[in-house]
Parts: sequence; structure tokens; C-alpha cells
Amino acid sequence: MNNTFATDILKGLSEYPKALSSKYFYDAKGDLIFQEIMNMPSYYLTNCEYDIFQQQKDDILNSIHTQGQKFQLIELGAGDGYKTKVLLQHFVDKQADFEYIPVDISSHVLSQLSKDLRKNFDSLEVSPMQGDYFHMLEQLGVDGNTKKVIMFLGSNIGNFSFEKATDFLKQIAHQLNKDDYFFIGIDLKKDPEVILNAYNDPEGITARFNLNLLRRINNDLGADFDLLGFKHYPVYDPQTGECRSYLLSLKEQTVSIADLETAFKFEKYESIHTEISRKYSLKEIELLADAAGFKVVKNFTDERGYFVDSLWKLK
Ligand code: TRP
Repeated sequence: MNNTFATDILKGLSEYPKALSSKYFYDAKGDLIFQEIMNMPSYYLTNCEYDIFQQQKDDILNSIHTQGQKFQLIELGAGDGYKTKVLLQHFVDKQADFEYIPVDISSHVLSQLSKDLRKNFDSLEVSPMQGDYFHMLEQLGVDGNTKKVIMFLGSNIGNFSFEKATDFLKQIAHQLNKDDYFFIGIDLKKDPEVILNAYNDPEGITARFNLNLLRRINNDLGADFDLLGFKHYPVYDPQTGECRSYLLSLKEQTVSIADLETAFKFEKYESIHTEISRKYSLKEIELLADAAGFKVVKNFTDERGYFVDSLWKLK
């Protein structure tokens, strides 16, 4: 039994209102459902970022590869590399002198990605690092001579509140030198209908993803969540830009968790908060960068203005 997992679940379900951390979505099954989400036409985020890379890869390379000196391309939360491969291919084609360092908490994801890259990009230097982002960055910091470009894509920053996002970005700033870059993908504020569609598809894939958290607790901690007794429910607040996902209990019920030797009561329509996917305006992105000690160098947006990949430097 994974202890932190058990402790976090116990804590989250004992609180009122109840909450569970989104980091637990991604077990082997959750990884697969998230792949399905990324393939849904309504989940515009992946396509937008893919298109930005496809159409502006040359501009992106020219913006980070100034004076042609060697750099380390470090990606936090590399995943399957679907979008990153567009950049990698272009950088290799242009004979940029760089080393790709994918960082991920999941060793499974990393070994798949490394295998894929070794097969399809034989001249690319790949040095995967498995573990916690900040441990890895500290390790890289020791070799302070090579220029660093750190990427954090897919609007993962949206899963933090503004305060937590600022703290996280300050820690990144701490690991950078003045010539280094930070390249961050952020989902922009837009028509709320478009956002809600991305988080509540009619096929029910997103619902399955959110409910997978309960299935995982059943599986890993011996719980008896009735998956039909809960409903996925997202809301979007155009002011804060927060799209929040909940699981709602459809009836009054008690759920036992064997490994925690306890049971939890749910009222009818009681909520469990599971995820924040915060959207920003370009102005708010400037504020975020500034609060963390960065300045925005250049924004790469898609034609519809749905998404931005923003290139930052230290102030
Ligand atoms: N964190 C991702 C996002 O914010 C994953 C995600 C997509 C997600 N759809 C979801 C998380 C629905 C919870 C519920 O876009």
C-alpha cells in the first residue's frame, strides 16, 4: 500500500467540503483515459499547442537558440512527448546543438518516451530524469555553465491556484541564470461554453477520468465506492478563470475503505472537489510572470487565441 496515497485520501475525505488531489488521477488506467481526453476534438488544449508548435517552430527555435550556443532542453512532466516531438524534430533538422532532458515522476512514462525517441530520433541526445521536478532541477543546477531552457507545457500550471502557481514559478526562477529561458503553455480565458465542453464531453470520457479516482481508491485501498452513485460535474467561473471539477454523490451513502479502517458518509449531492484548471488572460500572465520574478519575452498564440506558449526570462 502506498502510504502517502492512503494518508492523502484519508485527509481529503475527512475534510468538509471534501477534496481529493488531482495528482492521483494518473495511475496506469488514468494515463490511458487521459490519452483519450487529449484525442477528443472538444479538448482543444492539446491541438492548440500542437498547432502552435507546428506553425511557429522556427520562430520558437530562433527565439531560444540565440548565438547558437549549446542548451539543455528540460521538460517538466514530459508525458508521451506527442507535442514536444514537433519541436524536437525541427531542432534536430536545423542542427541545433542541444540535449533533451525529459523529467517525469512516472518511470513508466519516461521509459516509453526514451524508447520512442531513441528509435525515431537517432541523433538526438536524450537524458531522462525520473523524480520530483525540484530535485531534478537542483541536480541540473550544479552544472551551471550550460544554458537551460525549461518547458512546462499543456497548461499544467492551471492546476495550481494563483498563489501556488506563483510559489512554484519562484522555485523555478531560483534554478535559472540570466541567459536561461522558461517556456510555459497556458490555456487562455475564452467563451465559457468552449471551456465547459472540453471538461464535459457528451461521450463521457472526462466523467470516466474523474470517476477513475474512485475506482483507484477501490482498487488500491479496498474501498467500495459505487461508481454509478457519483456524477462528474465541472463549473467554470469567468472571473477567476477557474474550471473546477467535482464528483457529486447522487444519493445519501456510506463508503468503507478497508485499508483505512474507516467509512465516510456522503449526503445527497455532497461534492468532492478534484481538479482546478485555471485559465488566464494575457494580462494575468504578465502579472503571474512578474510576481514570480520573470518577464514575458514573447507570446506564441494559435489563430483562435485559445492558448499561449509564453517565453519568459528572469527580470
Ligand atoms: N489537468 C488537466 C486539465 O486541467 C486534466 C483534465 C482534463 C481533467 N479534463 C479533466 C482533470 C477533467 C479533471 C477533470 O486540463
